[in-house]
Amino acid sequence: MQQQQPKLQVHPWELVEPEFQPQDYNLNATLFALGNGFIGLRGAFEEGYEPEPFADGCYLNGVYASEPITYGESAYGYAKNNQRMLSVPNGKALQIWLDGERFSLAEGTLLDYERRLDMASGLLHRKLRWRSPQGKTLELHSRRLVSLTEKHLYALDFRLIPLDFDAEVRLVSSVDAGLAQAEKSDDPRLASPIDSSDIQLQKTLAEGDSLALIQKVHSSGFTLGTGALHRVECASDCTRRYFVDDCRVSVEYRLAAQRGKPIQLTKYVAHFASRDGSAISTTQLSDYLERCSGKHFEDYAALQRRALDEFWAGSDLELRGNDTLQQGMRFNLFHLFQSLGRGGRTNIAAKGLSGDGYEGHYFWDTEIYILPFFLYTQPQLARGLLEYRHSILDAARSRARELAVKKGALFPWRTIGGEECSAYYPAGTAQFHINADIAYAVRQYCSVTGDTDFLRDKGAEIVIEGARLWLEIGHYNPRRNNQFCINEVTGPDEYTALVDNNFYTNLMARAHLYYACEVYEWLQAQAPQAAAALAQRIGLDADEPAAWRRAADAMYLPQDETLGIYPQDDSFLGKPEWDFENTPADHYPLLLNYHPLVIYRHQVCKQADVILGLFLQSPEFTVEQKRRNFDYYEPRTTHDSTLSACIHSIIANEVGYHEKALSYFQQVARMDLDNLHNNTQHGIHTACMGGTWLCLVQGFAGMRLHGDTLHFNPTIPDGLQGYRFRLQFRESILELDADRESTRYTLVSGAPLTLRHAGESLLLSQPGQSLTAQQANVQEALV
Ligand code: BGC
Repeated sequence: MQQQQPKLQVHPWELVEPEFQPQDYNLNATLFALGNGFIGLRGAFEEGYEPEPFADGCYLNGVYASEPITYGESAYGYAKNNQRMLSVPNGKALQIWLDGERFSLAEGTLLDYERRLDMASGLLHRKLRWRSPQGKTLELHSRRLVSLTEKHLYALDFRLIPLDFDAEVRLVSSVDAGLAQAEKSDDPRLASPIDSSDIQLQKTLAEGDSLALIQKVHSSGFTLGTGALHRVECASDCTRRYFVDDCRVSVEYRLAAQRGKPIQLTKYVAHFASRDGSAISTTQLSDYLERCSGKHFEDYAALQRRALDEFWAGSDLELRGNDTLQQGMRFNLFHLFQSLGRGGRTNIAAKGLSGDGYEGHYFWDTEIYILPFFLYTQPQLARGLLEYRHSILDAARSRARELAVKKGALFPWRTIGGEECSAYYPAGTAQFHINADIAYAVRQYCSVTGDTDFLRDKGAEIVIEGARLWLEIGHYNPRRNNQFCINEVTGPDEYTALVDNNFYTNLMARAHLYYACEVYEWLQAQAPQAAAALAQRIGLDADEPAAWRRAADAMYLPQDETLGIYPQDDSFLGKPEWDFENTPADHYPLLLNYHPLVIYRHQVCKQADVILGLFLQSPEFTVEQKRRNFDYYEPRTTHDSTLSACIHSIIANEVGYHEKALSYFQQVARMDLDNLHNNTQHGIHTACMGGTWLCLVQGFAGMRLHGDTLHFNPTIPDGLQGYRFRLQFRESILELDADRESTRYTLVSGAPLTLRHAGESLLLSQPGQSLTAQQANVQEALV
């Protein structure tokens, strides 16, 4: 993987494409995507771009088609159905005709062009001057936003100026359900084509300035409603015509354009989806849009700005002295905010809402990589992510039964609606660690927020149901001194599958089991009625908590005395090394070039595994242990997963490998902006984006939560002068501002806060108070 020259201009708050880059049209459709947690709109042009017919897409979080998974050779308990995020009708489609010539960047001459995404205002701008093949010069300025205040709405605003001609102009605006789809590929990370017969057009509307389409997705039962409403302003009269066919509705505005006289069009687009049997009607769509169009584009732009001001006030991470990294950091946080489902019924997909890679599935990426950013900046959004897990508990219980687990729940490795969708169980269902990852996140959430209501009402059930699984799939192994062993699992590293005693899994399961005991004791003491109701609901036997503790006490963690490291699992160290020297650069990622069996029988890792365990359970390990394990695993890790580099950066920093820490951070911060994994065209990498925040806050600033106290030990990597960020902890907002010499801690608001800087205790007793502490040597101060 090489560091590349950024193709888009470097700017701390913007993404600028200064001239049209046709070769990157598809990639830029991802980078310029906009979203609001429900709607995700790729950054393709409104008029399309013929050479790249598959670049467009619009997605609704949680909305999917379901299809049976076809196995050549099936077996009992395999996941039965896939759920795949749908691309819903294209509501932004607009064709512009100048007399008989259609505006398209694939033809004519582009005289001037700029596309700009402003992450402070949330607006995507495009400004261009284009000369048609017959010599008419058109100026076009378009703006786009996906409303952060109106869940179902996005708005487009166009200003056209005929610079040197009078002509009949036709604006053909559509809601188009006929999206082109790419062919099936062998890359497991890509989505397969949708069966179009699954989606039936039920109703259309084209009247006045309104368009609407109602569709039914038979396989999953969703009803989809897409509507558009237009406002046209121009100097001349304007007539309308409508076109309706079996996959699109359009309105054509025909007007006599005059040289120099602007034509203004605002298009409001709405998306609704329902699955509860409540129908969506065309009237409902038009009424909604009629109401929305009471506000002008400028009004929505102002609201968008306000929503983002609020977001950035709590979430910005300022990196001084390096705009390249600053741009990457803000870009990543901006996209996370755009991708995250609100309201506790949806989650955040591996590719957000920016592309259909991984079919829109939610993974463990959420809890381990993404949730911390929201937890420490907007905890109510983090809560929603965990509430989503609670909402799929029934499906997780059913899945557990399919795997002969009599009690408790097994969360799906990948899903949208709750059902397990992983067709390849060795790198899917076998990743039982997801249960412990979710419990880990519940614990983090409760410690940081003190939200005992959540723990009582939902958290406890998630943790306890998840913990019961370990007793069912693990056993006391007489050949290992009766230690508690867990066989036939896959850890985070997907280049090693179906092993016994994966260190990460056992370590996290142990923490999970202890936490389940703690939570149940707490529930019994603090909310005895809730404890009794839960016990009854899930059939919890009185002796179960003691069994969890016994298993945790006896948990086997593989160790190798000779090497002084934790073997990744029982078999890892006995495997031959991968021949990195003779692996050509174009054979990465290995998963696209070698059969899984070839990969599995070698000591080669796709991503952080033991190293991740050492980070998540940090206080249990010394710096020396972390260094030895890092020294062993890092050279054996390909980082073929974008989830890897951030964890390596954090541990590298902790053990004093500052150059490596910086180099990994650089990759993480600009993974998508520089398309370092060559697949950003299929969507952003949200876990990696969350990893950028982890690298900075938990890596360079050294933040750890021990008990109820936040510990810091900031270091400044070369190439940065300093950084500043805010954290929300319990009721307080803390700001940390670090440079090479010192760190200033400010209590922005809330209750007094005691924290530790390099081991030294600091008390911020009132809002507005700041304390400055000198930087220390990292390793001396690590607790
Ligand atoms: C990684 C998984 C991750 C998935 C989705 C895979 O490449 O190995 O750990 O959950 O991508 O991001």
